[in-house]
Amino acid sequence: MNNLLQGKKGIIFGALNDKSIAWQVALKCHEQGAQIVLTNAPVAMRMGEINELSTICNAQVIPCDVSKNEDMDNLIDKSMEILGGKIDFILHSVGMSMNMRKGNDYLNLDYKFMHDTIDISAMSFHRLLASCYKKDAINEWGSVVALTYIAAQRVFPHYSEMAEAKSLLESVARSFGYHYGKTKKVRINTISQSPTKTTAGSGVKGFGDFFDYAAALSPLGNADAEQCAEYCALMFSDFSRMVTMQNLFHDGGFNNTGFSPDVFEIAKNPE
Ligand SMILES: NC(=O)c1ccc[n+]([C@@H]2O[C@H](COP(=O)([O-])OP(=O)(O)OC[C@H]3O[C@@H](n4cnc5c(N)ncnc54)[C@H](O)[C@@H]3O)[C@@H](O)[C@H]2O)c1
Repeated sequence: MNNLLQGKKGIIFGALNDKSIAWQVALKCHEQGAQIVLTNAPVAMRMGEINELSTICNAQVIPCDVSKNEDMDNLIDKSMEILGGKIDFILHSVGMSMNMRKGNDYLNLDYKFMHDTIDISAMSFHRLLASCYKKDAINEWGSVVALTYIAAQRVFPHYSEMAEAKSLLESVARSFGYHYGKTKKVRINTISQSPTKTTAGSGVKGFGDFFDYAAALSPLGNADAEQCAEYCALMFSDFSRMVTMQNLFHDGGFNNTGFSPDVFEIAKNPE
């Protein structure tokens, strides 16, 4: 499949290193003919790896801390300047749990940290959409996708406060999706991805175990970052034009599977 995104212009948040899902999405969008702008938090950029991606994708990088209104407004203005007009697609691939980072478990949350977690991981999606809406920055039939995890629907104890953040993120996609769809025909969805070996993913306690468990339970196995990038490209393309306000599972069938003998094998023979 070629040139699925020919002539389209997009913004991609959250490429930290080549393990990041956003990194793979940027490569895929570039390969499919899109022109993109990359963004990440100023502190993440200091690591410098994003410059390598920007060279490959011929994309400019604009710093944006997603918890700051002024950064978000500046990003949208600058992106339209660089891309020469309105935007066709956006990937929100941002997540951060301050309590997890500080080693606080779910029964001992610090609420200032929890506030920051929810602001960065979920309210930022509203902030992004509101800034775009105010500036009329997205073309009709444009597509915005945020990445989420099934802990929004079911309990994964070590996912902690990020479960609450993802519930809010998915709710924003539905609520804003209604308003943006009604007035400007812009569509908004979340993609609920399999456990994926990235910096954020590996920060969750017991990640290796539930990566293996999910792989064993899912009839197709876990979806990897590159496969997620392919699904994102499809969602940014005109081939998914009537899909909006959905939480789309990209997980090899995990969400609809109750039991698999492969899981039983793991339970019987733990390493
Ligand atoms: N890895 C998984 O298992 C998995 C599964 C489902 C969903 N997701 C989601 O995918 C998304 C991308 O995560 P990833 O797994 O690629 O990990 P990642 O660590 O590569 O990406 C997370 C990104 O968030 C950025 N970020 C954090 N705070 C920010 C801020 N204040 N402003 C701007 N950017 C900020 C980081 O710099 C980083 O680039 C996240 O929303 C995550 O929750 C991940």
